[in-house]
Amino acid sequence: MSDLTALPADFTWGVATAAYQIEGAVTEDGRSPSIWDTFSHTPGKVDGGDTGDTACDHYHRVPEDIALIKQLGADAYRFSIAWPRVVPGDGPVNKAGLDFYDRLVDGLLEAGVTPFATLYHWDLPQVLQDRGGWTVRETSEHFAAYASRVVERLGDRVKDWATLNEPLCSAWIGHLEGRMAPGLTDLNAAVRASCHLHLGHGLAVQAIRAASSDARVGIVNNLSPIEPASGSEADLAAARRADGHINRWWLDPVMGRGYPQDMVAEYGVELPLRAGDLETIAAPLDWLGLNYYFRQIVTADPDGTAPHARQVPVPGARLTHMDWEVHAEGLERLLLRLTEEYGVQRIYVTENGSAYEDVVAADGSVHDPERVRYLEEHLAACARAVAGGAPLAGYFAWSLMDNFEWAYGYAKRFGLVHVDYATQRRTVKSSGLRYAELIREHAARRDGRTAA
Ligand code: IFM
Repeated sequence: MSDLTALPADFTWGVATAAYQIEGAVTEDGRSPSIWDTFSHTPGKVDGGDTGDTACDHYHRVPEDIALIKQLGADAYRFSIAWPRVVPGDGPVNKAGLDFYDRLVDGLLEAGVTPFATLYHWDLPQVLQDRGGWTVRETSEHFAAYASRVVERLGDRVKDWATLNEPLCSAWIGHLEGRMAPGLTDLNAAVRASCHLHLGHGLAVQAIRAASSDARVGIVNNLSPIEPASGSEADLAAARRADGHINRWWLDPVMGRGYPQDMVAEYGVELPLRAGDLETIAAPLDWLGLNYYFRQIVTADPDGTAPHARQVPVPGARLTHMDWEVHAEGLERLLLRLTEEYGVQRIYVTENGSAYEDVVAADGSVHDPERVRYLEEHLAACARAVAGGAPLAGYFAWSLMDNFEWAYGYAKRFGLVHVDYATQRRTVKSSGLRYAELIREHAARRDGRTAA
């Protein structure tokens, strides 16, 4: 039984998704291709040749999906807005694209669900990629212009905005490791992209605040606690570099500390920044989003690429279907680190969840005890962090429903709700039922009554 009593009375219980992973309808109502359409349609890039063409068909099923959020009892929904629906090229805004999100937001508010909108969850319009994508400064400026248009339209109803989701993945996995769109393996491009993502974030913060005076703005980072595989000098130094690559590079500039100089030296790439950019990047935020999945134990890798540290398996670890270690203590540690080392004043766990090989039983139910345990353990870690002083305001389970898991396609299921892709039938899993129960218990504790 998890002890969640330390969670604050006004704790936000949410579920999360992202546009390309659920929407489908990739050619409808004026949407243009994104880098993920290109990548997923390139043979060999995504397991099983899967694409987001149909995904969960959410574009045509908004009322049904809002009803699911309601059924789980979540009071907030984190979704992303598809840039290529809203500004298909670099020209005018596509009204039909914005209309879709307008209807979604109205539906959420009618259902009593608070919208948390993310402006960029990896679906860069292909037309901008063709001009250099995040490796060029113009993309940061285009991003801020797009953010303005969205917030002008939705800012009267959406108050919580995230600029970027996991810029680490866009820069390092998309431009250095090549496992995500746009699929490059170029350190120079990756470092440039990281800076332009940050600049785009900072310019977008200004644009959001200009368009909506009561907006609450954050950024969402995926972070991992890093541990050395041994006490050797080489492994300790590798852990420090890995921490720089995974954590500090993404936190320090946004928190006003500039880029970590040890990593600037490690990459050996001149940063494409101009006077004033660091100040723009460090624009004050209202909250920080933490996506947490696993810790990393690393050893020195002198023959590899930057940061010359390689993750090693943890003997005896419990693994999810992604082969990621289940390690809830890592979430507690990160929350406390953000609090103590970075002085963050308001944090949301904007994603946390697990993939397992779910089986639909003969009676149609989906029993997923491992995901139930994962959820309970990580929420308990949140509660311990709160007890230790972390200003944690909410938790968003990843994900509302099974969806397109990027290069892994549909084989990896993260949902609290099962999706049968052949029929688009949704079934709440045991984990979804358990989440609803935890939410009810929390509300009952807050209101001083027994949970129904
Ligand atoms: O599905 C992704 C999501 O898009 C970003 N964070 C991690 C999730 C699981 O891999």
